[in-house]
Amino acid sequence: MKIGMLTSGGDCQSLNASMRGVAKALYNNVKDVEIIGFHEGYKGLIYGEYHTMNPKDFSGILTQGGTIIGTSRQPFKLMRTPDENGLDKVKAMKNTYKKLGLECLVVLGGNGTHKTANLLSEEGLNVVSLPKTIDNDIWGTDITFGFQSAVNIATNAIDCIHTTAASHGRVFIVEVMGHKVGWLTLHAGVAGGADIILLPEIPYDIDKVAKALKKREDEGKKFSILAVAEGAISKEDAQLSKKKLKEKRAKSPYPSVSYEIGAKIEELTGQEVRVTIPGHTQRGGEPCPYDRVISTRFGAAAANLIMNKEYGNMVGMVNGEIVKVPLSEVAGKLKMVDPDSSFIKEIKSLGISFGD
Ligand code: F6P
Repeated sequence: MKIGMLTSGGDCQSLNASMRGVAKALYNNVKDVEIIGFHEGYKGLIYGEYHTMNPKDFSGILTQGGTIIGTSRQPFKLMRTPDENGLDKVKAMKNTYKKLGLECLVVLGGNGTHKTANLLSEEGLNVVSLPKTIDNDIWGTDITFGFQSAVNIATNAIDCIHTTAASHGRVFIVEVMGHKVGWLTLHAGVAGGADIILLPEIPYDIDKVAKALKKREDEGKKFSILAVAEGAISKEDAQLSKKKLKEKRAKSPYPSVSYEIGAKIEELTGQEVRVTIPGHTQRGGEPCPYDRVISTRFGAAAANLIMNKEYGNMVGMVNGEIVKVPLSEVAGKLKMVDPDSSFIKEIKSLGISFGD
């Protein structure tokens, strides 16, 4: 049985652990299995760049961050657009798959990756996928691998900021990854004891943010910490069309949303503000034990789908149990933070502000 494997989109911790899970379960249960690793995601499948992997490639990688076969972003919206040499990418991917005589393609990726995985499945390829992303925003699964490791790193950044913020009596903003969804900011913000948490799903009012900071000052609190998602958005900006917002942001003098919020806070409160951006460190380093466990389970479950020929599915986890979710249901949807959820209400009940 010949299986193709690729990792696509932004990397994260635990990609290697997940591939190891799939490979070990296959080697252990299928008599003759050959795994082809495509280089740098769909690019390898399009341009026929790959190598045959062997069992020892999957040894010693459980704890290793990154991906041993590389990754790249190949936007879904451009998949139907020929490349600069006029190559039909979808046709090229199907050709590579057929030429190699693959039984199935195992895809590890986030939202964009799943749209292409679904396209390939609709085009007749056998596809099984695993949910990867530090954003935890994939539809159909409670958890994605990479998320918990990133929560640990972002929380650690807030923890480190806490001591310096306390010494200097300043306002600190820690900008956490997540352009469209705020799961990472929410979890790291709560775990790090942030006083204000700003998420893309809950547009903020800068006056309310300033009021929350003033309240803390009046209570004798010498410092404040904000956990701000990359995609945090003001109530006014949330009213703009996508195009208008893009134009406005292109003209902004600030390198990111946190600097804009910081400048407004200084103006409104007179408090001194500093911004910290852990950036891509949140995707780096080794996977935490929790991610290693779910990756191993996802890997085994994906191998199981292949052995049962249950193609066209993503493996996921709901209430701690492995599930299979049709790619057609996953593709094109985002799992967002619900502003009316009990989670948000519980956090608000502590007096933590979401700026709304
Ligand atoms: O989708 C994962 C993610 O890490 C986002 O949280 C972040 O906004 C984005 O990728 C960064 O992408 P890039 O690595 O292309 O800068």
